[in-house]
Amino acid sequence: MKNKRILVTGGAGYIGSHTVVELYNAGYEPVIVDNLSNSSLDVLDGIRRITGKDPIFRQEDCADYVAMERVFNEFPEISLVIHFAAYKAVGESVQKPLDYYSNNLDSLVNVLRILSQKGGAVVFSSSCTVYGQPDDAYLPVSEDAPLKKAESPYGNTKQICEEIIADSVKAETGKLKAISLRYFNPVGAHPSAHIGELPRGVPQNLLPFITQTAAGLRGELKVFGDDYNTPDGSCIRDYIYVCDLAKAHVVAADRLLGNDDVRDDFEVFNLGTGEGLSVLEVIDMFQSANGVEVPFSIAPRRSGDVEKVWADPSKANQLLGWKADTPFEDVMKSAWKWEKKIRGI
Ligand code: NAD
Ligand code: WQD
Repeated sequence: MKNKRILVTGGAGYIGSHTVVELYNAGYEPVIVDNLSNSSLDVLDGIRRITGKDPIFRQEDCADYVAMERVFNEFPEISLVIHFAAYKAVGESVQKPLDYYSNNLDSLVNVLRILSQKGGAVVFSSSCTVYGQPDDAYLPVSEDAPLKKAESPYGNTKQICEEIIADSVKAETGKLKAISLRYFNPVGAHPSAHIGELPRGVPQNLLPFITQTAAGLRGELKVFGDDYNTPDGSCIRDYIYVCDLAKAHVVAADRLLGNDDVRDDFEVFNLGTGEGLSVLEVIDMFQSANGVEVPFSIAPRRSGDVEKVWADPSKANQLLGWKADTPFEDVMKSAWKWEKKIRGI
């Protein structure tokens, strides 16, 4: 099973690059396809430094069917795709919904069309955003919780993509299999600091804003709301270390390629730690783990934010034999080490 080639779309991106490293560690040979719309060639150098391997890379657009056919013709042995390629900025998706629908849906449809013809499997990057704000009775949130109407076109693409996968797997029984991984909030960087998150412009996500503020690039962090119905009033999320998340893709690949007694051809797993942390707790833990200060002030709530959500990851723990177990202090250290590296501090 190992030394097997796996196609990794979006493999030059944040989660994709960490997954490529873990695939190499597990004995797979990833083939990266990325159009570099939100990443750069430097990432390949980071992967090379960590693994000592020269990554196979093709700069192609997954939303272009002919380009994807070209890749599969070059690597006909590939039967498994880990599909990260998508646009992911929630705010931008509200401004440019058609860009999000065409990129995120077309790229998935192309992958599925080719895999349905030749037979194969896909691991799909989904998101906890599909749950919206679960009712209290559904916290921590398991895969059985009802999905809520998406708050943004981005979130809607994840819901629609899961439906597209379900319909396609059903239509191609025995020929097409899939696993959808619903990530909670991925954070941190590889401990080597050779790869990490590279947000463009002003970061919208909490951790990059914290690290950039600690590095002096931003004057202060704005905490969006301290009047929520949570113990300290700030929002609660399940922050999962990107390397733990990356490893879950390896076990998902093992499962799809192996002969395990898997009952469903389409399975969905939550990937989180199972622990909720508030914004104020994250700031506090970042400061104490790294001995640096993060100036912050309380600001109004951010529109569209859910109050609290964290995962019940027991299905992934049991069926995948995977657990997010990196201590949060180490996660915070990795995020700061990466920020210092890219800023030359
Ligand atoms: P990222 O932007 O760092 O990585 C995505 C990669 O895909 C980028 O390298 C980009 O250049 C590439 N890409 C985009 N469209 C493409 C296309 N049409 N053809 C080829 N390459 C294309 O994002 P990420 O944080 O690594 O996210 C990876 C996946 O996980 C995405 O599908 C995202 O929606 C999903 N996800 C991310 C988070 C998060 O908070 N980071 C949470 C849940 C789900
Ligand atoms: C986390 C918390 C903010 C920035 C987003 C997407 C979601 C998923 C993960 C892809 C919230 C607070 C943030 C800041 C703050 N992505 N915050 N000041 O909103 O949980 O989820 O990324 O699928 O779809 O919506 O993550 O990192 O933006 O925010 O106070 O400057 O930090 O209000 O409570 P979020 P986030």
